[in-house]
Amino acid sequence: MKVLVTGGLGFIGSHMCVSLIENHDEIVIIDNLYNSKIDVLNRIEAITKVRPTFYQFDVQDVNRLEEVFKKEKPEAIIHFAGYKAVGESVAKPLMYYENNLDSTFALLKMMEKHGCNNLVFSSSATVYGVPKEVPLTEDSPVQSATSPYGETKLMIERILTDVQKVHPEFNIAILRYFNPVGAHKSGLLGEDPNGIPNNLMPYINKVAVGELDHLNVFGDDYSTEDGTGVRDYIHVVDLVKGHLLALKKLSEEKPGLFICNLGTGKGTSVLEMVKAYEKATGIKIPYEIKPRRPGDVAENYASTEKAKKEMGFTCDYTILDACKDGYHFQVEEEKRRK
Ligand code: NAD
Ligand code: UD1
Repeated sequence: MKVLVTGGLGFIGSHMCVSLIENHDEIVIIDNLYNSKIDVLNRIEAITKVRPTFYQFDVQDVNRLEEVFKKEKPEAIIHFAGYKAVGESVAKPLMYYENNLDSTFALLKMMEKHGCNNLVFSSSATVYGVPKEVPLTEDSPVQSATSPYGETKLMIERILTDVQKVHPEFNIAILRYFNPVGAHKSGLLGEDPNGIPNNLMPYINKVAVGELDHLNVFGDDYSTEDGTGVRDYIHVVDLVKGHLLALKKLSEEKPGLFICNLGTGKGTSVLEMVKAYEKATGIKIPYEIKPRRPGDVAENYASTEKAKKEMGFTCDYTILDACKDGYHFQVEEEKRRK
């Protein structure tokens, strides 16, 4: 299948491109390099021995997008392009609403105009807001999210649902990611945010290589087993496998709208993650307990029943694998920087 991957040089998109190429799909990448580097294209080539077709521009640019649709005639789109930093979205809501919504509108217009009927959209478990109970199933209520970032995901889910109703020929998978972590085993692809990371795993990676001296654990008084926050950390390579299965389902079963969680079904606390990281890497991660981070929920993990039943999805990797791969990537990245 010929697949257009927007945001294909980002953290998840780059792993997706490798998996698609390994699956013998043809890919076309659009990325404006807002949060990625052109070198990722070379790294995808180094892993797969295939140089993907790449266009550098903003997906909101309908004219450029139209040229790509005319020339490349993609049969499916995986739409990763978007802004994703929760804190920044509170400070710059307009920027988030504009980019995340407009890029989706532009793609939907191209689908209408050029007969591309398959779309996979990157949503997030953030649409469940503060969970009333866990595990979260796809039928758990979606709630007004706690940030403009989350709100964009919720709005796009609604827009896709409405558009699909009047386009029964469209097959749209909305995948709600839990917490993607880890990196490609080559050490060439991973997540290395600029500045001080907001998310747990990238922060621990930087402590492990000595760039930061300790982890701040946000709260140890939650109603969880050890008092620290519990999340569902899924290895990014498993996450992208879920997209391959979703694409297969869209093209073979033509389900119309398909909404599905992508997680492991297992909750891990912050302190369990620290222990797992130490076990996987042999490196001590010093930490200090700090107050709760505003907006955090105590516990959040996925029900994976639907993903298993409807796509045959299961995870191949553990938290230990994710810690090992995340650390390996960080070490290689430090070497490349020197
Ligand atoms: P990322 O920032 O690493 O990748 C996004 C890519 O899209 C970047 O390469 C960026 O340059 C590009 N991009 C952004 N806006 C663009 C635009 N208008 N035109 C062209 N390119 C553009 O993020 P990621 O972690 O790979 O996340 C991918 C998607 O998954 C995002 O939509 C994100 O909201 C969603 N998601 C991520 C997580 C997570 O924890 N990483 C969790 C849930 C959902
Ligand atoms: C965060 C976002 C969520 C987004 C997801 C993407 C918030 C409130 N939520 O989820 O909307 O979809 O990232 O991956 O930002 N922690 C620490 N110390 C740290 C960092 C995190 O103790 O330095 C704890 C947090 O309190 C939480 C857990 O680690 O309990 C995971 O945090 P994080 O990696 O930021 O992910 P989420 O908060 O689940």
